[in-house]
Amino acid sequence: MTDQRASVPVTESAAVQTRGPHSVPVELSVNGTEYVVDLEPRVSLLDVLRERLELTGTKKGCDQGTCGACTVWVEGRRVLSCLTLAIACEGLQTATVEGLADGAELHPMQRAFLEQDAFQCGYCTPGQLMSAIALLEEGHAGSDEEIAEWMSGNLCRCAAYPHIRSAIRTVRDQRTGD
Ligand code: FES
Ligand code: FES
Repeated sequence: MTDQRASVPVTESAAVQTRGPHSVPVELSVNGTEYVVDLEPRVSLLDVLRERLELTGTKKGCDQGTCGACTVWVEGRRVLSCLTLAIACEGLQTATVEGLADGAELHPMQRAFLEQDAFQCGYCTPGQLMSAIALLEEGHAGSDEEIAEWMSGNLCRCAAYPHIRSAIRTVRDQRTGD
């Protein structure tokens, strides 16, 4: 009996998709800086950021997609970097908490977090910041209930939630001139 699978032609796209399992060079753009990193295709974006690029602002909490501590932006959209393969970000713009400030000038959301006392231990804060800024861009900060709903993927074991919402309201109102 002939094994039909052996006769399936290998298409060009299938060949392109076959990378690894050993290390391959991957081009990443993070906070506007270009990197080429040799890594196995199974490696998460979170591990590459922290362990290869030394961008340790992004935190590892659960490493399974439930806490939000690892939130970064890819092409301007918030993603959980623990559930995102680094190789899938090749050719895309990734942004982390290290890219928020403009030199010594903090991002308005960073300033608001400081002014509103929106953290205690600070472990969740990088992810909270990335989500909070994205939330405003997404137009999901109309009410406290809406803010809570759209920030619900970012857990805070110190329960700084009221202060985090206050910081988000502050930046929202600054933008609208209220
Ligand atoms: S570390 Fe990614 S969601 Fe918790
Ligand atoms: S400030 Fe401690 S976990 Fe959020």
